[in-house]
Amino acid sequence: MNKPIVLSGIRSTGHLHLGNYYGALRNFVDMQNDYDCRYFIADYHSLTTQPDPSVLNPNVRSILAEYLAAGMDPDKCIVYVQSDVPETCEFYTLLNMHAYLGELEKTVSFKDKARKQPNNVNAGLLTYPVLMAADILQHKANFVPVGKDQLQHLEMARNFANRFNHFYKTDFMVEPKPYEAKGEPIKIPGLDGSGKMGKSEGNCIYINDEDAVVIKKFKKAVTDMTPTEPNSEMNEPIKNLFYFLKLVSAPEVYDQFLAAWNDCSIRYGDLKMQIAEDVLKVTRPIRERYNEIYANADYLNKVREQGAEKARAIVRKNVEEMRQLMGFRKF
Ligand code: TRP
Repeated sequence: MNKPIVLSGIRSTGHLHLGNYYGALRNFVDMQNDYDCRYFIADYHSLTTQPDPSVLNPNVRSILAEYLAAGMDPDKCIVYVQSDVPETCEFYTLLNMHAYLGELEKTVSFKDKARKQPNNVNAGLLTYPVLMAADILQHKANFVPVGKDQLQHLEMARNFANRFNHFYKTDFMVEPKPYEAKGEPIKIPGLDGSGKMGKSEGNCIYINDEDAVVIKKFKKAVTDMTPTEPNSEMNEPIKNLFYFLKLVSAPEVYDQFLAAWNDCSIRYGDLKMQIAEDVLKVTRPIRERYNEIYANADYLNKVREQGAEKARAIVRKNVEEMRQLMGFRKF
């Protein structure tokens, strides 16, 4: 029996931080055992902000190396770079003919970007959801693991698929569903007292942060109250630190600090150092593998080529079918 197909794109900017690690990446790694997974780095999409070519390339390289270092296995899933599969562009062009200005202009991400970069409201920005739909539909993907911010794009992909099927009286397009991860999602808080860890919040602990950097970030973590009465309620910054502690430290260690909180003997310096050390136990081996992989261009190129070859074989077949349906046929 064929496994359901899971497809996901990874932004090619920004390093992997703990929020990604315990969120999307954990799902990617779990899913690769149970599904037919195809993951790619979305470097075409990143052109919508017109990055310098000398920055784009190392960005893609480091993202690829980070995901591999953190457990994405190119022998279990197809890992590729979007621009290594130029068939995507044809699929995108064909799909564009059934995407309407009105719906594209209404997309939340488009309106946001147009506001943020008013001097660069390019056509790629407008059709970003069409390219994303092409990524998905060209694989006939059943599931797409996406965060809340991408749900509208996925909804649009479903609309395009449906519209295409109606127009050409076919069931060629498969409607992709959002993949719901099993279990409680892990939401990594920021260390600034409230909210979550995120690139735009500027409060990230990166997997690649050196030991000293991680320790410094934890030392600076907000702790704006000391308990004066036994068994006090924790406020948010303290709760966040305990959340971290639970996630990365041994249960006995957690209990020990909780007891110290409850009898007011807690020392935040110790708490923070404990978490920093235990976070490093998670990140250090990944960072070391990352450094090795990043330096190994031959290996990275091999992974890329192998992924592109597999993805192209699949996509080429689907694009051909799409062409036929749309009337590009031999006389
Ligand atoms: N737009 C997604 C993001 O910003 C990245 C992406 C591109 C993607 N193509 C995709 C995600 C296809 C899932 C499926 O995170």
